[in-house]
Amino acid sequence: MKQNRRKKHYRVAVIGAGAIGADHLSSFRLHPAAEVVAIAEVSAERGRAAAEQFGVPEVVTDYRELLARDDIDVVSIAVPNYLHAPVALDALRAGKHVMLDKPMATRAADAAKLVAEAEKRGVLFMVGQNFRFNQDTQTAKAVVERGDLGEVYHAKTSWTRRAGIPRIGSWFTQRRFAGGGCTYDIGVHALDRCLYLMGEFDAAAVSGQTFAKFGPRGLGNGGWGKSEVDPKARFDVDDLSVALIKLKSGRTVILEASWAGHGPSVDVNATQLFGTEAGLSLPPVQTFKQARGGYVVETVDPLPPKVNTNRMVHFIDCLLGKAKPFVAPRESLAVQRILDAIYASAASGREVRIK
Ligand SMILES: NC(=O)c1ccc[n+]([C@@H]2O[C@H](COP(=O)([O-])OP(=O)(O)OC[C@H]3O[C@@H](n4cnc5c(N)ncnc54)[C@H](O)[C@@H]3O)[C@@H](O)[C@H]2O)c1
Repeated sequence: MKQNRRKKHYRVAVIGAGAIGADHLSSFRLHPAAEVVAIAEVSAERGRAAAEQFGVPEVVTDYRELLARDDIDVVSIAVPNYLHAPVALDALRAGKHVMLDKPMATRAADAAKLVAEAEKRGVLFMVGQNFRFNQDTQTAKAVVERGDLGEVYHAKTSWTRRAGIPRIGSWFTQRRFAGGGCTYDIGVHALDRCLYLMGEFDAAAVSGQTFAKFGPRGLGNGGWGKSEVDPKARFDVDDLSVALIKLKSGRTVILEASWAGHGPSVDVNATQLFGTEAGLSLPPVQTFKQARGGYVVETVDPLPPKVNTNRMVHFIDCLLGKAKPFVAPRESLAVQRILDAIYASAASGREVRIK
């Protein structure tokens, strides 16, 4: 990021004031050096309601109006997946610092364009992988880094829900708007956290399978999201997926994501690492190891986080020079390549190699 652009106060615009847009809006309020000055929202009604709730002075329906303004430094994007790449590209081209919600894009080729544009402009660009920021993940990372696990050679990571499809008939369940289903929506979190803990993002090969066993029958509905529901829309995305990912080093990850499925728990978002000296799982952070006198299962007390656990606060800290970016665009691009490879593998029935 170009140092000469550093300011003491950052003026923020939030694009998209739906369910997670509200989290963007409330999070920036936690930082004294940030001020949300405008919202762009195609639903004038949702935009006005959010502005009122979060004390934002201005609402527009066309985000491009805000990109043209010199008094806006940061753009925080919380729109449906298919708009991530085009809106973020417009914002980067306008020279804004960009916080983008996940998934980075709906195609790795578009994600790569974002990385290139951010590097060219020298602005701060981050995909807000919030689960990487939480204290459990940061504690687990510290345990891995101090070598307690020995060589970590395999991991299992999952986010599985029993009935948590984000409202059947909304953009989430239509491929042309979402790009994909649970793999892009929640698999992305489980994968990002796992690769961060392993300290390796680039995969060599991916073998995946996807299913849609609940959504098409109108089952497994959850309550997430504020956008309109089209009762006639076809459910054409995945509601369960599984993948075997071989990283460049030869280490492996098994990823499982489901919006809906019969299982023992309502909602599990967990990662497990297998090391030569010990294993680790989270949340909560626990280690497993052989010791003299028996096998020891230990719950690790949360450690002080290295970066602020709120991604928006961290983003502003980076702009102020108080923190180094915790999520690198190239890491998010590598995650996108793996997610895309899961869909490609499921479609072709073959392992997909990533260069
Ligand atoms: N980080 C997380 O944990 C997390 C959680 C949920 C959703 N998300 C991501 O955030 C994004 C938004 O999800 P959501 O749950 O808020 O969905 P949502 O449907 O509740 O809200 C999306 C909002 O974007 C608005 N919108 C659509 N096109 C727009 C445009 N061109 N300009 C301005 N506004 C526009 C819609 O009117 C709607 O209000 C998605 O990409 C989703 O994957 C992230």
